[in-house]
Amino acid sequence: MSRTAPDNPARPEPGLPLCRVEDISDPGAKGFRFRKDQALFAGFLVRQGDRVAGYVDSCPHNGWPLAVFDDLYLTRTGDRILCAAHGAVFRPEDGVCVGGPCAGESLTPWPVAVVEGEVRTL
Ligand code: FES
Repeated sequence: MSRTAPDNPARPEPGLPLCRVEDISDPGAKGFRFRKDQALFAGFLVRQGDRVAGYVDSCPHNGWPLAVFDDLYLTRTGDRILCAAHGAVFRPEDGVCVGGPCAGESLTPWPVAVVEGEVRTL
């Protein structure tokens, strides 16, 4: 089963608290893994100021996870998401690839909301 599939049984239910906004560096990112039986769902959050976006941790180039090390999803300057595999870079605000082997494609959104400082799944 693809980790990006919306029917992935390991994908967390809506309303699950993930963390507090201040638990993520600014700018920064934080990865999450959920497992149910043999299924795995991997997602990550990206923070820029008060804005937090969520994406499925699967590169549109060939489906690999983006980060080699925990929570290291951003470039050194913190203004782009980086896939460590082959160097694709993505805009944090909408997940569009703006450079690399999958330019023009997009990360799969993992919708989240910030409620009273807490990031929750939608
Ligand atoms: S798997 Fe991400 S750039 Fe190739």
